[in-house]
Amino acid sequence: ESFQDNLFDYIFKTILIGDSGVGKSNLLSRFVWDKFRHDSKPTIGVEFAYSNTQIDEKLIKTQIWDTAGQERFRAFTSSYYRGALGALLVYDITQRPTFNNLAKWLMEIRDYGDSDMVIALVGNKIDLGHSREVSREEGQSFAEKEGLCFMETSALENLNVGEAFLELITQIY
Ligand code: GTP
Ligand code: MG
Repeated sequence: ESFQDNLFDYIFKTILIGDSGVGKSNLLSRFVWDKFRHDSKPTIGVEFAYSNTQIDEKLIKTQIWDTAGQERFRAFTSSYYRGALGALLVYDITQRPTFNNLAKWLMEIRDYGDSDMVIALVGNKIDLGHSREVSREEGQSFAEKEGLCFMETSALENLNVGEAFLELITQIY
């Protein structure tokens, strides 16, 4: 569905964070344009897109910001976080280091983000089950310990992608 720009009730800023290569940009492009890129390049700077959602008769426009996982390609961290109401914190279930780095990302969120920002933890690439290095239970228990909502997704196979973004948007609302 598409709403005219002046007809929404709320506008939410959300951000994508997590290590390089975990699939942040592909989750965004799957959710917003239903597109997947096998050959996607690391993000440089910041990109963003909008999606429109309806909850309880309210039209919600969500601005989703996507930046580089790689430090050297990142934009100004403080402006990235400014005004963000929610974050999708993404790791790759086939790359344990991306899971081990979650504590580092949570520290950044606590340094720069608003204290009541909603955070959804997302374990991506579940289509690669044969290469899994982080179990669903580990993801779930990390999320519970940190008070985050949790989902596993595949941007490639379009599994749970809409659900993850909608859960975030619903929790903000
Ligand atoms: P940076 O921009 O460097 O921070 O990386 P990113 O997190 O945006 O990762 P990106 O979306 O560019 O994806 C990195 C690689 O993983 C690409 O080759 C994608 O095709 C691949 N990829 C992303 N999501 C999935 C997925 O769900 N399944 C599989 N099999 N591959 C994926
Ligand atoms: Mg990217």
